[in-house]
Amino acid sequence: MRLIHSVAELRAALRGETETAFVPTMGNLHAGHIALAEQAKQAGRPVVASIFVNPLQFGASEDFEHYPRTLDADCAQLAAVGTDIVFAPSAAEMYPEPQTFQVLPPLAGELCGAQRPGHFQGVATVVLKLFNIVQPRYAVFGKKDYQQLFILKGLARQFNLPIQIVEGETVRAEDGLALSSRNAYLSPAERAEAPRLHAVLRAAAAQLGSTDFAQIEAQATATLQVHGWAVDYVAVRSRATLLPPQGEETNLVVLAAARLGATRLIDNIEAVSNRV
Ligand code: PAF
Repeated sequence: MRLIHSVAELRAALRGETETAFVPTMGNLHAGHIALAEQAKQAGRPVVASIFVNPLQFGASEDFEHYPRTLDADCAQLAAVGTDIVFAPSAAEMYPEPQTFQVLPPLAGELCGAQRPGHFQGVATVVLKLFNIVQPRYAVFGKKDYQQLFILKGLARQFNLPIQIVEGETVRAEDGLALSSRNAYLSPAERAEAPRLHAVLRAAAAQLGSTDFAQIEAQATATLQVHGWAVDYVAVRSRATLLPPQGEETNLVVLAAARLGATRLIDNIEAVSNRV
């Protein structure tokens, strides 16, 4: 496996490749990321993973400085599953001059975007740059970041990018907690409480026979609050639009973001409304 830091070297290494499969990450890899790398290997070759903690997607008071940087361990894990190239650029390599941004649709200001202004613009910008640098045929993103995945699928479609977006299922700990690099911030007591987020989403999804989505959201929010969570949102949305469900839509997703102490966790569960 090659570790490459410069755009020029990566371009040279990938010249002539037409079936590249790409896994963008911010490093501090866990089994969820490794599953995405495995999925990339099924999709195409060579497999390229990027490791870049993207400053543009962090707010001023967020954890950019403290985000765990574990390049050596990440490379060892990626090599073990047959990744061909790790691209780990510096911020100066990625942003050598003031950066142009795309204007994203209003959805980018909802859900996680409401609490993290500019976050998805930072994500979309770095991903578009990475796509242009790597020029993959396939790019794999996890469903845990459901809104991110939805926005990036729109980006690829709307900019006519010749890239197939491959969706990776969320990988969970045995107790249901979705794997996330930010789980490392949890104290032992918070880690014991954290699986409740998934449990509450499952309970909400089980109630989707009712169309009183506001009530389902309020009940899930109240349950989390009683157990000490600060809830950013619990939302029942259409899978097709990620907007509030209209009419007879039955393919739904319940999404949540909530904080335990200083740690913000997100999760979601896809569900089919069983209303008659
Ligand atoms: O999901 C992530 O790890 C990041 O948002 C991504 C897609 C690598 C962009 O920095």
